[in-house]
Amino acid sequence: MANELWPLFEIEVMSKTLMIIGAGHEQVPAIKMAVEMGYRVLTTDRNPEAPGVVHAHCFELVSTGDKEGNLEAARKHGIAGVMTLGSETAVPVVAHIAQVLGLPGFSEETAYKATNKNAMRAAFEAFGVPAPVSRPALTLEEVEAFAEAHGFPLVLKPSDCSGQRGTTRVDAGEGLEAALESALRFSTDGRAIVETFCEGIEINVTAAVVAGEVHFLSLSDRITAEPPHFGIAIEHISPPQVDEEMAEAIREASRLAIKAIGLTDGIAYPQVIASPKGPRVIEIAVRIPGGHMREVAWYRSGVDMIEIAIRQAMGDEDPWGSCRRIPAAAALSVKFITELDCPDHGGRRVVSIDGLEGARALPGVHLVRLYLKEGDVIPRLDSSAARFGAVIATGADREAACRLAMEAVGKIHYPLAG
Ligand SMILES: Nc1ncnc2c1ncn2[C@@H]1O[C@H](COP(=O)(O)OP(=O)(O)O)[C@@H](O)[C@H]1O
Ligand SMILES: [Mg+2]
Repeated sequence: MANELWPLFEIEVMSKTLMIIGAGHEQVPAIKMAVEMGYRVLTTDRNPEAPGVVHAHCFELVSTGDKEGNLEAARKHGIAGVMTLGSETAVPVVAHIAQVLGLPGFSEETAYKATNKNAMRAAFEAFGVPAPVSRPALTLEEVEAFAEAHGFPLVLKPSDCSGQRGTTRVDAGEGLEAALESALRFSTDGRAIVETFCEGIEINVTAAVVAGEVHFLSLSDRITAEPPHFGIAIEHISPPQVDEEMAEAIREASRLAIKAIGLTDGIAYPQVIASPKGPRVIEIAVRIPGGHMREVAWYRSGVDMIEIAIRQAMGDEDPWGSCRRIPAAAALSVKFITELDCPDHGGRRVVSIDGLEGARALPGVHLVRLYLKEGDVIPRLDSSAARFGAVIATGADREAACRLAMEAVGKIHYPLAG
């Protein structure tokens, strides 16, 4: 007998539900892929108009950082798995839900060590992970005492934030107070971390950890902006410019960092500086990074970490082996477009945008994006979120990929008013 409710009923009983925390731009690719893989997808966000909402089967209005609210939504929908991507605030929430409901994932303790920089450094110390010398900081006296003991330059950061917010390099005593204030302002646990500055080439690492085994996906140079835009990536280039001996030392330090935070299943994102004295692990995240690091890993390894993460969350028996593979690219550049690409913009507005199609037509260019609209003001580069565009290009080697990315950026025009 015809029953117009039947198709809905069928979805309810036939498909297992995957909960993806956050429905913003960063989460859209995962929501879409999980739907394509046949799962029923529940997403949550504090914004009912977040772009991922329309792609999911169901939605609950809950903020990504709200542990109990998300747990309630998870229970209501009888989820079989939970994950997030891009969002650091959702990491402890994912762990909480997985732990309480007994779903695949990592522990709350691991989530804490991966999101609180002071706890992470304590774990690093216990396992002998090479890292900058650091200590928790609350007062100017503590920071001054650290400077006295270790000298300049120093780095001050919030204990638990991401996206390079409130992060400053300090070269002399007079900069300490403002840097501490900025770090504390962005910290949600009310603490900062002060550490020695590590000179060297910065390398971002991505890996899939499956049943304790570490599968490296990519190593890439993280080209960062000069102070005051400290630490913000303006380009990712892979392969990195380090030799194989250093690359292996970086992989070894990454393995140790993964062990130190107790991660046995999940995506790991160690951030390492290849210093003259060897690798120094700046931090490690346990999530799919934002800012197109997914594509760096995907094009270089052939494996999409979103697919791995979905398979892991849903308890796939072989999340690594069952993933689809594309041919790996020899080299890749992700070039971000920021205020540094338009000097003297002085808060000016974008009058018009064109050239995107021309840039996309270049062979070897895989993505061209401008997040600005006509009428928007060029944002100040104070965190990674203020990058307003990106180009991804692959090539036969680093130089070719970087050259092509620059050529694509050069084709995009966005004249400014005034
Ligand atoms: N001790 C350090 N030495 C050198 N550079 C650092 C140091 N700490 C941070 N940075 C720079 O700042 C960036 C952001 O620091 P990180 O600890 O990764 O914070 P976030 O969680 O905001 O990404 C790093 O990617 C790196 O470029
Ligand atoms: Mg970082």
